[in-house]
Amino acid sequence: MKLLELRLNHFRNYQDATIPFQEGINILYGPNGAGKTNILEAIYYLAITKSFRTSIDKHLIFSARDMFRIQGLFHTTQGQEIVAHIAYSITRGKHLSVNGQKITRFADYIGDIPVVLLCPSDLSLSQGSPQQRRRFLDVLLSQSSKIYLHHLVQYRRALKQRNLLLQQTAVEDSLLESWEENLIKNGVLLIQKRLEVVEELSHRVQELYQRLSKTGDKVKMVYRSRINPGKGQDLETVYRETLRSHRPMEKELGSTLVGPHRDDLLFLINGKPMKTFASQGEHKTFVIALKLAEYHYLQRQKSETPILLFDDIFGELDADRITQMLNHLGSMGQVFVTTTSRNFFEKVGNALADVHYYYVKEGTISPVEA
Ligand SMILES: Nc1ncnc2c1ncn2[C@@H]1O[C@H](COP(=O)(O)OP(=O)(O)O)[C@@H](O)[C@H]1O
Ligand SMILES: [Mg+2]
Repeated sequence: MKLLELRLNHFRNYQDATIPFQEGINILYGPNGAGKTNILEAIYYLAITKSFRTSIDKHLIFSARDMFRIQGLFHTTQGQEIVAHIAYSITRGKHLSVNGQKITRFADYIGDIPVVLLCPSDLSLSQGSPQQRRRFLDVLLSQSSKIYLHHLVQYRRALKQRNLLLQQTAVEDSLLESWEENLIKNGVLLIQKRLEVVEELSHRVQELYQRLSKTGDKVKMVYRSRINPGKGQDLETVYRETLRSHRPMEKELGSTLVGPHRDDLLFLINGKPMKTFASQGEHKTFVIALKLAEYHYLQRQKSETPILLFDDIFGELDADRITQMLNHLGSMGQVFVTTTSRNFFEKVGNALADVHYYYVKEGTISPVEA
């Protein structure tokens, strides 16, 4: 997938901008606060229909305006043209169209423009909160599987309803049970898909990690859930029993304690939890391997090359890791990179073909001759 042109209207600090992009590596450089991340945010928003920085769409609107628009002209690997357009207005909400056709269910569209984002907060994925790791799985699976996204939406709806009931003083078990069945119906698929993707990514991450770190260290990912069927046990049955046994405690606390919304991913290095045994450098290498594995996974599932978005991560990494990563990227599709220092990038980037520079300043962006 390639983004050939991006148009922004009243998005963040861009009033009105039309930016042509190129195949290969697009490097956006400029001072802090210029609007570099805003560009990556717009591309991500167009693909995922949400920001990675805020869940409040209103904050994305240029000061004192009441709506923003983002439009992208994409070419698929097969040579098909996609014009995606999203408008958000405070009064009318979010509207999406593709090639002029209105899309009412966003879940039917998400994944058609696959993206992989790597930003500074990802570098703590292996040390951060379980929520961050669940989000990683959800964003990946929502792009690769429309069924997953559909069930995720249904699951969240059921969870909200059950939690509201649990917060009431006297609630009938039969009412709770009907929402539990709904949770189980959707949650089983979420758990199965997550188990599958973790299994597959884990092998790939292991290979990439060894290649990047030039060590024989063994890294592994394991999906952790309280709903944990033993050999020969059925997931659905165990799910139902686990919910039932937690019900008294859940009534007391007013929230659902078990299920995919509480699960986690465990990262291991040589059989030990990375959280307590890995160095900072090992964490970083691991996350890069994980992101590259995510990229390969999406590419295979969608038969389409994802767009890579690297936000300001080069300051966080040493030259050796950057060079290795760029060498790996050399063979990939379109990449967007933000950095405050073009000089720094030129040192490592000159060896690569197909590098294009853009200068960003105070809400304007323009291509620069190399
Ligand atoms: N809704 C908005 N309206 C106008 N300006 C905004 C809005 N949201 C953020 N900004 C401005 O965008 C700039 C930050 O842009 P960002 O892309 O994060 O910078 P960087 O180039 O450092 O990545 C800041 O100057 C901020 O004031
Ligand atoms: Mg930034």
